[in-house]
Amino acid sequence: MINFRSPVNGFEESHPMINKNALATARSSYKPKLPGVLCGNSPIRTSSLKQDGDTEIRALFPMTYDMAPVTFEGDAQTPGTSSPLRIGVILSGGPAPGGHNVIAGLFDAIKQIHSGSTVFGFLNGPDGLLKNKGIELDATTIDRFRNTGGFDIIGSGRTKLESEEDFQKSLATASAQNLTGLVVIGGDDSNSNASKLAEYAKAQGASICIVGVPKTIDGDLKGGGIETSFGFDTACKVYSSLIGNIQRDAISARKYWHFIKLMGRSASHIALECALQTQPNITIISEEVSSRKLTLREIVDGIADTIAYRAANGEQFGSVLIPEGLIEFVPEMGNLISELNELLAAHGEAFNGLSSLPQKREFVSAKLSSPAAALYRNLPDDIANQLILDRDPHGNVQVARIDTQRLLIDLVEAQLKEMKAAGTFKGSFSPLPHYFGYEGRCAAPSNFDADYTYTLGFTAALLLRERLTGYIAAVGGLTRPASEWVAGGIPLARMMNLERRHGKMVPVIKKALVELDSPTFLEFANNRDTWAKSSCYIFAGPIQYFGPSEVCDQTAYTLQLEHAAQAAHSLT
Ligand code: FBP
Repeated sequence: MINFRSPVNGFEESHPMINKNALATARSSYKPKLPGVLCGNSPIRTSSLKQDGDTEIRALFPMTYDMAPVTFEGDAQTPGTSSPLRIGVILSGGPAPGGHNVIAGLFDAIKQIHSGSTVFGFLNGPDGLLKNKGIELDATTIDRFRNTGGFDIIGSGRTKLESEEDFQKSLATASAQNLTGLVVIGGDDSNSNASKLAEYAKAQGASICIVGVPKTIDGDLKGGGIETSFGFDTACKVYSSLIGNIQRDAISARKYWHFIKLMGRSASHIALECALQTQPNITIISEEVSSRKLTLREIVDGIADTIAYRAANGEQFGSVLIPEGLIEFVPEMGNLISELNELLAAHGEAFNGLSSLPQKREFVSAKLSSPAAALYRNLPDDIANQLILDRDPHGNVQVARIDTQRLLIDLVEAQLKEMKAAGTFKGSFSPLPHYFGYEGRCAAPSNFDADYTYTLGFTAALLLRERLTGYIAAVGGLTRPASEWVAGGIPLARMMNLERRHGKMVPVIKKALVELDSPTFLEFANNRDTWAKSSCYIFAGPIQYFGPSEVCDQTAYTLQLEHAAQAAHSLT
């Protein structure tokens, strides 16, 4: 019989249906490691307040800017709160491995603080907070989701909390639910909005405290005391495992070139980390393309030259990693996309009135500047169509949906044809496109992410116990054993900068892109020529949950290289 469930009850009823295989059953009993500093009563230590800062941001966040970072110190005997906490929690944006463990850490910590404390999970992201839709998370539910991937315990969503009306509704829900605290688990945008909500709540005299947790597989929420966002480690390990398998096939079958697009919206951290984990023949880093102002033609020439070189050595196979956001970083494509966004906004009605795709393409070509029109007309048909058809609710081109891997294959194929005619390419070219994204972002968390997320959730609870608001949970020293990590909070307002959004300057947390002088990029740049010429692939293998620590607890290279560089820097 079909079971018609209400949106709220759907979550409660769907949970008992989760089935576990032997691995999932064994994994559910994994006990995430907590740092020693969180094991005692964890009193708080406030760092000294920096008086410097950004005067414009300070003026926008008068209630929450001048707060000091805090750290927890284990063991000293300070009493916890004597009254129960009631904490709301939201999962915001794209899923990332470990979200369930953040909630488990939060749950365990508040129960330790006071056995009568409760966690209320808002359904489907910030929308649940606006509409006061959620479920009480009890011990049975939490236990079912420990160490699992996904965000399905309460669902996630991309609704943004940004207007004053949103803030009012949020506070109304908080008051209706008697919340003492709210934890927002999200990326740069969600944490920017959590900061604004905390500022608003404080200015209104509302008692609720709001704390953020750094989430995103993209790895672009870091800096200013945040070493990495959770989920990056697991997602990169899953993609690297798949890339390794593909490379093993490539070197075995010896006839395919694999063009692999990797998720990561704007920043190329995922592509860079996967490159270090697998040593592919070619990896494109969007930030380098932008900085060197490389044209599409130059990128294609580079790929085609490597293919020709390898073919001359009898290796008619290879791998190319392509970051999801590449297209926007190629200057001429970036210009084309902004021109398209503007003209489709200005002439949307006339455009929508046209019935056939060729007519639509001709319509936009006629309105583009001549360099943009020339580029647009030269794009393969399916890409030219994607650019005008796949648009977000604001009417903008959905860059992440563009099949960059297919675009590059088409352009490289054409280039190789020319090279063959000129006698500079002797060989065959059989390309295969892939896109890895959803395969990784809901995977069961690696040991690192399982421990890190549990610790983040625990830390968020302690920040709320201290009645701190406008902070993001921060856990550091992440390349050391988990028992030695440090934990505390960083004022979110201190992470803000001003950026132009929809024509207005607004305070947001700056997205951390790949820096070309970072140790990670330099490591890649020092090795890429060797990787291009030879086939020195690393076959990463699947994530290991059980076994020796050097196999199971290895952190991402990005983190290791950044830590090593910082340690070297602090010695000089
Ligand atoms: P968040 O920034 O919200 O963590 O999402 C990351 C991400 O997985 C990107 O890598 C990707 O471009 C995007 O989400 C895809 O999201 P959606 O499936 O909602 O289009």
